[in-house]
Amino acid sequence: MADLEDPGAAPYGNFPNYYTFHPPENRLSLLPPGHLLELLNRHEKGEGPLLALDVGCNTGVSGGIIRGCFMITHELSIGLYNHLLQPKGSSEALPDVHFLCCDIDPDLITRAKTGNPFPDSITFSSLDIMDPSSLDILQKFLEKFGQARFDVGFCMSITMWIHLNHGDHGLVDFLKKLTPLCDYLLVEPQPWKCYRSAARRLRKLGRQDFDHFHTLAIRGDMTEEIVTILTRHCNSQLVHRFGNTSWDRSLLLFKNRSTKLPS
Ligand SMILES: C[S@@+](CC[C@H](N)C(=O)[O-])C[C@H]1O[C@@H](n2cnc3c(N)ncnc32)[C@H](O)[C@@H]1O
Repeated sequence: MADLEDPGAAPYGNFPNYYTFHPPENRLSLLPPGHLLELLNRHEKGEGPLLALDVGCNTGVSGGIIRGCFMITHELSIGLYNHLLQPKGSSEALPDVHFLCCDIDPDLITRAKTGNPFPDSITFSSLDIMDPSSLDILQKFLEKFGQARFDVGFCMSITMWIHLNHGDHGLVDFLKKLTPLCDYLLVEPQPWKCYRSAARRLRKLGRQDFDHFHTLAIRGDMTEEIVTILTRHCNSQLVHRFGNTSWDRSLLLFKNRSTKLPS
């Protein structure tokens, strides 16, 4: 059985025990209640439901045997869903929130579906976001609600895995693909030191290196690199920095410049 403290090597970051070493609270505590909702300018958009896309959700929610008991733990997707349900003032109406959470690893999605406490509001789907056919699944979800875009897309600790597996072009294509699909993107990029650790863990297990690790030209300060990609190549503007987690990861909110919202 895997050591709960050891992340092991997972080629896509699809760690089965991810939340034992990266608890969602690290990130959620950086989001003051109601603040994200306020930044999304929802009240300017009228009545429709708030639609969110969580890309690379891992288990989102998980059930498992811990010290002999079956426990369900609510992971980051559920934490983000609950967060968006919390308006700043108690007088404000609760928004109608719907999440599409996706992950490349079907086993993680099976676990997420099994423990999903809000099946009417949170949909888990197994898909590879880099596969062109994934667009159909995202668009079908949007069509169900008669909307053209998600209000917000979450890219939490996924950019490094896209970058390592698909190279510089893959990282840029990933962000270019998501920008027109979402009014806002909340991105938590992994710093460069995580790339080195991920490559080291793979080598330690005698596995083949990531295809692109040694040839990446986009490297160094990954937060600023991602700001540059989104602002220069994806028609986005950085609207807020929520600060850094204890893992030295920043949370950045970007707005799609072509989204017609009153300023
Ligand atoms: C490190 S985990 C982060 C999980 C979660 N977003 C969080 O921050 O708590 C990265 C997740 O991205 C998923 N992933 C990696 N590449 C993906 C792809 N091409 N399409 C969809 N999911 C992907 C992995 O399976 C993994 O569960």
